[in-house]
Amino acid sequence: MGIEGPMYTCPMCGEPLTIVYNKGYLKGRALEGFRGRGVWRYSPMLPFEGDVKPVSLNEGDTPLHRSLRLGGKLGLEELLLKNEGLNPTASFKDRGMTVAVTDAVRRKASRVICASTGNTAASVAAYAARAGLKSYVLVPSGIVARGKLAQAVAYGARIVKVRGSFDEALEIVMETVSRDGDIYLMNSVNPYRIEGQKTLAFEVWEQMGGRTPDWLVLPVGNAGNITAVWKGFKELTEVGLTQRTPHILGVQAEGASPLARAFEMGFDELVPVENPETYATAIRIGKPISWRRALAAARESGGSIISVSDDSILEAQKTLARMEGVFVEPASAASIAGLEKAMEDGLIGDEDSVVAVLTGHGLKDPDSAIRMGVEEVEAEPGPEALAMALGV
Ligand SMILES: Cc1ncc(COP(=O)(O)O)c(C=O)c1O
Repeated sequence: MGIEGPMYTCPMCGEPLTIVYNKGYLKGRALEGFRGRGVWRYSPMLPFEGDVKPVSLNEGDTPLHRSLRLGGKLGLEELLLKNEGLNPTASFKDRGMTVAVTDAVRRKASRVICASTGNTAASVAAYAARAGLKSYVLVPSGIVARGKLAQAVAYGARIVKVRGSFDEALEIVMETVSRDGDIYLMNSVNPYRIEGQKTLAFEVWEQMGGRTPDWLVLPVGNAGNITAVWKGFKELTEVGLTQRTPHILGVQAEGASPLARAFEMGFDELVPVENPETYATAIRIGKPISWRRALAAARESGGSIISVSDDSILEAQKTLARMEGVFVEPASAASIAGLEKAMEDGLIGDEDSVVAVLTGHGLKDPDSAIRMGVEEVEAEPGPEALAMALGV
């Protein structure tokens, strides 16, 4: 027996499907108010009716830290850091996964699959375990950060290392799902992933006391998250909870920046990057599946998509950890490197309020931190030796 009715892409044009609500209906649901915590607090804005039993690990409700030093260094009046690394598997992916796995269970799926640069794999494996489903994850061989692989192993996923790029792994997964209707797809082509991830916008709006920032900055890889966050802000205006949407700034790594290029050139087509390269392995993607929706998010919001160098990403990772006490993985630090560049270029001004989304925890990729340069000294266990070692 196949899974009951999941569809991911349009049979006519091949684009990922989007869940669209009747405006009056959504407004009526939003007026019921938000109750509870995390992602499921926004149930009225999610595509489930009646009694649903969420497959949850308490995702969402992540802190929005007010920057104490970094904002000042950049000359910004208001910089807020949305710390998505504090989700259950330490990345923003959990927001989408709780909703998509809940849908998979509702459709009586028993197996789920994804292609991943690491964080999706960790999150899929955890939520599948929570729901008692089998998970299959395909990762590009040799680039996935150790912490993420360790998570997928621990949660019991069947891991296949593909000798190829993420883009190739995703193509295989899409083909597998189209041939075998019994396997449920967990990549962000799945519209339920987008629905869960859009709650980040709702949470930012509530945490800012019913305001929205002038700019929201986030790293972009396969472009599911920029799609989701923009959808969330648009829905907030549609139901009348806010009048203003932020400008969305997407940030890519220079070696994997097909969207930044398309945006800069004003293209309506994507020219894929055949061999994407960057230390920020989470966003090492050359052919983002949601490219059309990402360009639309940047254009409709009056934002942009830019690219930053690996050096500036690693510098931003260090600065964030040392000035704010927030340790993120390299892809997440792209938000800060991008913000810095956008300020230098005059795109973002001193008086703008900015939310930087920090998508994943630094412990996911411990090797990236070791590359910062280690200041370690060894000492005998005695007070004199210690004083010598510390130079005090
Ligand atoms: C830490 C981190 N940041 C950013 C991204 C990019 O998100 P998206 O692929 O939705 O653009 C990813 C995707 O894997 C990620 O793991």
